[in-house]
Amino acid sequence: MWYLCVFYHRLLDYRRPEVQSLAEIFGGPGAGDAVEWRMPENHHADSPFHLVRLPGDERLAAQIANRSLLVKGIYELWGQGTTYEELEKAIKEYPDERKLPYLTPESTFKIIVDSFGKVISFQEQNDIIKGLAYIPFEGRVDLKKPEHKFFVMETDDYGSQNGLPPVVQKTVFFGREVGAADRHLLPTYQLKSRKYIGPTAMDCEMAFLMANQGLARPGKLVYDPFVGTGSILVAAAHFGAMTMGADIDIRVVRDGRGPDCNIWSNFEQYKLPEPLCVLRADNNLPPWRTGLKEIFDAIICDPPYGVRAGGRKSGGRKLLKGIISPYTVPEEKRGTHIPSTAPYSLVECVHDLLHLAARMLVMGGRLVFFYPVVREDDFTDVAKFPEHPCFKLVASCEQILSLRYSRVLLTMVKIGPYTEEVEKMAEERHREFRENHQKWMEEGNLHSAVFSPAEQDGKPKFDKDSKPKYRGKYV
Ligand SMILES: C[S@@+](CC[C@H](N)C(=O)[O-])C[C@H]1O[C@@H](n2cnc3c(N)ncnc32)[C@H](O)[C@@H]1O
Repeated sequence: MWYLCVFYHRLLDYRRPEVQSLAEIFGGPGAGDAVEWRMPENHHADSPFHLVRLPGDERLAAQIANRSLLVKGIYELWGQGTTYEELEKAIKEYPDERKLPYLTPESTFKIIVDSFGKVISFQEQNDIIKGLAYIPFEGRVDLKKPEHKFFVMETDDYGSQNGLPPVVQKTVFFGREVGAADRHLLPTYQLKSRKYIGPTAMDCEMAFLMANQGLARPGKLVYDPFVGTGSILVAAAHFGAMTMGADIDIRVVRDGRGPDCNIWSNFEQYKLPEPLCVLRADNNLPPWRTGLKEIFDAIICDPPYGVRAGGRKSGGRKLLKGIISPYTVPEEKRGTHIPSTAPYSLVECVHDLLHLAARMLVMGGRLVFFYPVVREDDFTDVAKFPEHPCFKLVASCEQILSLRYSRVLLTMVKIGPYTEEVEKMAEERHREFRENHQKWMEEGNLHSAVFSPAEQDGKPKFDKDSKPKYRGKYV
């Protein structure tokens, strides 16, 4: 059956991949790929109204909607039209055997009028509900805890200059709710009430989306090699996964901001199981013993790309130049010594991350990470994302951060085992990628795209009026 899937109008690129990841969690391997999508007639790809066919029954639809952050609701669509007359005709034509079980005298129900891109007054809502008298509701109205919720959803032709995706024609949908998102967890986990945060702590909505992309769930082990304040692992632990993290910064891993304000206290605050361990480890010099592989089900992270804080790797400048041999910390300084570090370029960091994931993820495991993009260069082309022979890219979700800069959440699935030959192939691909894309990644172009105004012939490239209000991809 095709369901109407209504999304929140935010993080547009993340919406379908989230549903597919949740289908994979609740429907089993391959269920994500089996999800089919269509747009309602005359609807733009960024519209909140999508039609979805799921590889399972209504329970699957409910499970997906309930865990999702971006699905407002999934509905059994009883009818749609461009006018209320057309809607009536469609609902009357919808088979009785699908409708009547939800209209029985012993049932309770509620009708909700919702809209997108327009406001419907209370009076109008009442009139719309009264206009549905042709549906033979026999149950009792219960506004607090109804057994069945029915939705009338209206969207209008609102032009293209109001920040919403263009819609050509008014549409009215009527459906029975099968499942709805529980966004209550957002106020609970919001960063402003979290004890330990830092300048790059991951926003909780995004952290939950990342955990969904990583298929975090009970019995799975999720690793964040750039753990910082642990925000991504908090989200994974909320969904029942075991967690483990690492960071090069010993202050983050060991101390935080004191005994009650550190990574551990963040887990305690939400009564979540603590991480199995948090390592002080450099992504450039992995600590794994020889032969150890395939232990994580997902690696989910936000690598340091040098916008707010650049990555660092072990080794002082002298050591990196090979001037002195590895440094041994004198015994009396062992307790307080902070090893010196050198800059860690994004290109090297991503290469190490793919290597780590190829080796340490189980087959079918997921690597989910943010990757920065300079929008001016039209960099959002899939072919230009980093690649590795062990991985298949299953989703790339852009979050536009400014006119010139985006970050893209990449979700990759491990499809091939890690071997030495594969690693050689990966080195080659990386070299190629480095030659083609190293420039902007290495030379501070990203930093300048974020922090300096865009100019053309000495004048600002954008002014208030030249900025399109609707900034989606498909105008
Ligand atoms: C963007 S922040 C991640 C923040 C984290 N997601 C959070 O919610 O707090 C990047 C983290 O990577 C760490 N880092 C930088 N270079 C590293 C390296 N070579 N190995 C491991 N961690 C590194 C930094 O100390 C920083 O905590």
